[in-house]
Amino acid sequence: MLPTVQFRSRPAIIDLSWGHPRPDLLPVDDWAEAYGTAIRRYRSAALTYGRGQGPGPMIDWLCAHLAVTDPPGPRPAEVFITAGASHALELSCSLLIRPGDPILVDAPTYHLGLRILADHGGPLIPVPTDADGIDPAATRELIGELSRSGRPPKLLYLVPTHGNPTGRSLCVARRTALIEALGDLPVIEDDTYRELSYDGPAPPSLFALSGGTVIRIGSFAKTVAPGLRLGWLTARPDLVAALTRRGYVDSGGGVNHATALAMTTFGYGRHVERIRQAYAGQRDALVSAVAAALPDASFAVPAGGWFLWLRLPPGLDTARLLPAAEAAGVSYVPGDRFYVTDADSRRLRLSFSMLDASALRAGVHRLADVTRLAETAQPAPG
Ligand SMILES: Cc1ncc(COP(=O)(O)O)c(C=O)c1O
Repeated sequence: MLPTVQFRSRPAIIDLSWGHPRPDLLPVDDWAEAYGTAIRRYRSAALTYGRGQGPGPMIDWLCAHLAVTDPPGPRPAEVFITAGASHALELSCSLLIRPGDPILVDAPTYHLGLRILADHGGPLIPVPTDADGIDPAATRELIGELSRSGRPPKLLYLVPTHGNPTGRSLCVARRTALIEALGDLPVIEDDTYRELSYDGPAPPSLFALSGGTVIRIGSFAKTVAPGLRLGWLTARPDLVAALTRRGYVDSGGGVNHATALAMTTFGYGRHVERIRQAYAGQRDALVSAVAAALPDASFAVPAGGWFLWLRLPPGLDTARLLPAAEAAGVSYVPGDRFYVTDADSRRLRLSFSMLDASALRAGVHRLADVTRLAETAQPAPG
């Protein structure tokens, strides 16, 4: 039989590479109930072609929800319902990017986001960053240089809140400076991890700080379930209207209509609170295991999201180390996947979303053993 899911299980490997949810945290029964409630409540309206921008009850629900999680929240005309954040990124690119258009990207940033962007334009150009993330003044200079050389960038993509892979969030001062520095350049803010904040609320979105000029994309993949393929974007009303006018929306109606209606009947707040506590516990387990077993590696404790961005000691290259790690029964994503150029070869991404605390600890011990072996195999300094 053909496989049902994307995840490929390798039983001998404790796999810290996948940014997938822990299966037993997926709300199987509650979602079945939400679907049933939505079908009974909306009857044939749940099963016919949906309204292009998204069904009214979902847009109202989302506006009210975002007004609490990231005030002041969008107006209804600023929202478009999508089939996940990836789809929101794909749609935004289809409006804004033509082949050959230069696209600015944060460094490092979400590796599969880079693939979606590369499908549309190119080249991808990394922005200047430091330990705190994107540098607004240097980015303004880069935009000026590119424009003077006849290659003005058409877009900036970044994950400024609990970023993938870094777990880092851009501070408010940099957010404000960045919006100022970018002028009219369209920005796509990937806000997928905002609600998985473990140590207090996340900083306001670029969308909120910009008064709605930034395109923000969001998802229910991490907070509810990726298989729903449900997400959204908030943007200027003219961009939302342009998406709503696209031929495929005219032909097929709103995206993922029945699932969007079911979301409005699901006990979202209670569910997110429960998984936030579970993922915070997994974050803590991974952080303590890494601190104890890999004392010479460095990392910042992620205040949210699903990832720990680890830096191994000098001399180790995480892409080269991966086959040995997998042979020893542990996997991760080498850091170079998250860069367009100038990768930091000592970095790797560990995901704490899919495994419980004891599996995370066991994975870290295997990683520590492999790292120690690789260190001792290095030639002694001459
Ligand atoms: C930053 C970021 N954006 C988007 C996605 C994909 O979201 P979706 O499943 O809603 O397409 C992910 C998933 O790993 C992610 O980490």
